[in-house]
Amino acid sequence: MNPNTRPIGIFDSGTGGLSVLRECKRLLPNENFVYLCDREFFPYGNKSNSFIKKRVFALSERLLTEYDCKAIVVACNTATNVGIQMLREKYSTPFVGLEPAIKPALEEIPKEKVVLLTTPVTMRQEKFKNLLSKFDISNLVILPQKDLASQIEDNIDDVDKVYPQIEEILTPHSDAKGIVLGCTHYVFAKPLIEKFFENLSKQIKIFDGNEGAARRLKDLLG
Ligand code: DGL
Repeated sequence: MNPNTRPIGIFDSGTGGLSVLRECKRLLPNENFVYLCDREFFPYGNKSNSFIKKRVFALSERLLTEYDCKAIVVACNTATNVGIQMLREKYSTPFVGLEPAIKPALEEIPKEKVVLLTTPVTMRQEKFKNLLSKFDISNLVILPQKDLASQIEDNIDDVDKVYPQIEEILTPHSDAKGIVLGCTHYVFAKPLIEKFFENLSKQIKIFDGNEGAARRLKDLLG
């Protein structure tokens, strides 16, 4: 296949990665994309590492053999933290991963409370711990979420229904000045987080890794 028309593969456990696809399409409007959603095995955020590794291999293999993808975006923080290193060791195709946007958040709001929402699996990974070790995290509060991704996935056509859960999670942290969305599903809840702080007449800055990932993809493709 002509390398210029070979597609870019993107996958996630569910629909969360569509928020990454949106950003990639914005920065690379002339590229073709194939999106795989591993809904049968959703969610990854409470599975074992070995299970997630098997799934990321299966999806990558399919994107490479069936679609001849020229690059793959692992549009999932959980899958990236568990499996991207192995994928890079196994394949010569470039892989772009997602990681919680802790760096921009702590650089922009160094002295105030920042809340990181993430999946329980991401939080346990060495890759994630290495990322944390690079920063002064004394003002960072990490809140692993057992079922927020599932709530969003189940209500993707009417995400407003997830507002009560957002309210419950954030009420004890209404003094935060920044929120880091450490799961691609949570990006769909961004308007709800904005609404929560707006209702309290408070300012909030929200960070996600989507634009960074899309920019890395663009740089990789030259
Ligand atoms: N979208 C995935 C992430 O970014 C997680 C959702 C899941 O638990 O499967 O971490």
